[in-house]
Amino acid sequence: MNRTIGLGLGAVVLAGAAVLAFGWGTWAPAQTMLMPSDPDVVALGQTVYAENCASCHGANLEGQPDWRSPGADGRLPAPPHDETGHTWHHDGDTLFRLTKYGTGALIGDPGYESNMPIYDGVLTDDEIIAVLSYIKSTWPQDIRARHDDMENRQ
Ligand code: HEC
Repeated sequence: MNRTIGLGLGAVVLAGAAVLAFGWGTWAPAQTMLMPSDPDVVALGQTVYAENCASCHGANLEGQPDWRSPGADGRLPAPPHDETGHTWHHDGDTLFRLTKYGTGALIGDPGYESNMPIYDGVLTDDEIIAVLSYIKSTWPQDIRARHDDMENRQ
């Protein structure tokens, strides 16, 4: 291989690496995988949960009373995040987008009124993944396994 071609290939490889690195950063949230078995992630998530989510979703993830029926304001109360709710019915990517961009964005209805805050610009992507990982870490083993199956199907 002559020197020029070698250098040229090197540049292509570098450019490819840059695209990959950039692409990973951009796409990572779209392929969000929760990390309920990583103690550091779960510890961070527990703090994020206590400070940002527990006021509505409950200190023990129990949600608000009568969460299936709209309240006086016509909006849904905060559902539980434990195994009695339906958080675990959604894959990690859906949960991530719901937390970051809100329910309205997720269902494609910007007019949807919800008491669930939008965390874009409030929590980092890592913090959102951490808090969802913490939530998953509290589920019983069989629910976690069913959620794992759902993640692997994507
Ligand atoms: C001010 C109250 C409030 C706070 C604080 C709050 N939520 Fe919510 N959350 C809600 C409500 C209300 C809903 C129901 C959304 C709707 O209108 O469909 C909800 C729904 C959700 C859902 C969907 C659950 C499902 O079963 O589909 C997820 C996931 C969620 N919240 C995560 C979080 C996380 C993570 C935090 C903290 C970072 C948080 N929420 C903080 C009120 C809140």
